[in-house]
Amino acid sequence: MSFEQEAKKNFPKWPIHNNDEINALKDVIKSGDWWCGAPGEHQGDNVWAFQEEFAKFQGAKHCVAVCNGTVAIEAALMGLNVGLGDEVIVSDYTFVASASAVIATNAIPIFCDINPKTLVIDVNNVEKLITTRTKAIVPVHLGGNPTDMEHLMEIAIQHDLSVVEDCAHAHNSVYKNKKVGNWGSAGTFSFQASKVLTSGEGGAIICNSEELADKIYSYIDCGRKKNQYFYDHFSYGTNYRMTEYQAAVLRVQLKKFPNQHELRNENAFYLMKKLNDIDGIKTMKPTPGTTRLGWYVFPIIFEPMKFGGITKSEFYEKLNANGIPTDDCYPPLHSLDCFKNINLKKGIDYSMANWGGEKSNNINFPIVSDVYSRSIEFPQEMLLANREKLDNVVDFIKSLKK
Ligand SMILES: Cc1ncc(COP(=O)(O)O)c(C=O)c1O
Repeated sequence: MSFEQEAKKNFPKWPIHNNDEINALKDVIKSGDWWCGAPGEHQGDNVWAFQEEFAKFQGAKHCVAVCNGTVAIEAALMGLNVGLGDEVIVSDYTFVASASAVIATNAIPIFCDINPKTLVIDVNNVEKLITTRTKAIVPVHLGGNPTDMEHLMEIAIQHDLSVVEDCAHAHNSVYKNKKVGNWGSAGTFSFQASKVLTSGEGGAIICNSEELADKIYSYIDCGRKKNQYFYDHFSYGTNYRMTEYQAAVLRVQLKKFPNQHELRNENAFYLMKKLNDIDGIKTMKPTPGTTRLGWYVFPIIFEPMKFGGITKSEFYEKLNANGIPTDDCYPPLHSLDCFKNINLKKGIDYSMANWGGEKSNNINFPIVSDVYSRSIEFPQEMLLANREKLDNVVDFIKSLKK
């Protein structure tokens, strides 16, 4: 069997399921309780149970389940009273949702450059971006790698800012003995199809303040309040509820998660060591103080000249052509058309933002622009492959050296 056939055969496909997920879904259908209802007036039990199980799993007091990870960020910010006229500092190296959720609240995202080794925001850059309008910070734990939360929280407390940790990649990441999502005011998660814990779509907010959890719940359930009459709406809210189908699948996936997470961590550290031995390759460096990572993606940064001047698209195309699943990383937010051309919400003044037109020039975001130009990433399921397959990846990358 050729390398290509072998590799294709053995890299696991994601998501992974068996009859447990199928039976959980069948049970929901048969029960006739296809939605969760309201607290105190339960229809299905899965959403309520999942909220408790996930809060416990992440070591938080409260969890509010929602329909995806984008609205989870929006709901957390709304619960923290972020809105018109406010600025929110966001990592520049992330999926668009980390910033579009800020736009949804009518606030303005301000993009923060990253640390070239850990790929999460360089906390030293945050203070320079704080103005009298700054209300919150959204650090993104990229690939599950925690932001330096200890230092970030010092700054947040000093300037009286809320912090919403975007943990879409960081299920079960542990930084300085505390799980991410518990450092800031709230932590948000995604359960979209490619994530390490998934129901196709889905999201959650964790926090340790009952008052905040209640505000977030009210926002995602039409302005209702816990245990009050169903047709009483106390504040502006919308419907971002999670379905019973999503919660039923998540409850099963959550049981399987710890073993997969263990394997991803073992394999990631194995792969990291081998890849860093190649001259011209650097893997994302875990932030000092990190003991476990969610590993949603495994980014690597290469020096083109050590590979005969290869471009990043040539790099990941060669890997893919050889059966090694590889993706591009996120284009930095400042470079996205919607921010560059300020094609956003009508009636909001974005002129004070640090992006748009000339301000979106890469020279204003030097680290992330350089990192993006020469980084690629492996999807999390690669870290569930056997060691022989991982060795093949290392050997193939070595074979590209010039
Ligand atoms: C960093 C980050 N934040 C937020 C989200 C949004 O999650 P969802 O796709 O569930 O809306 C994603 C999705 O990929 C993400 O990568």
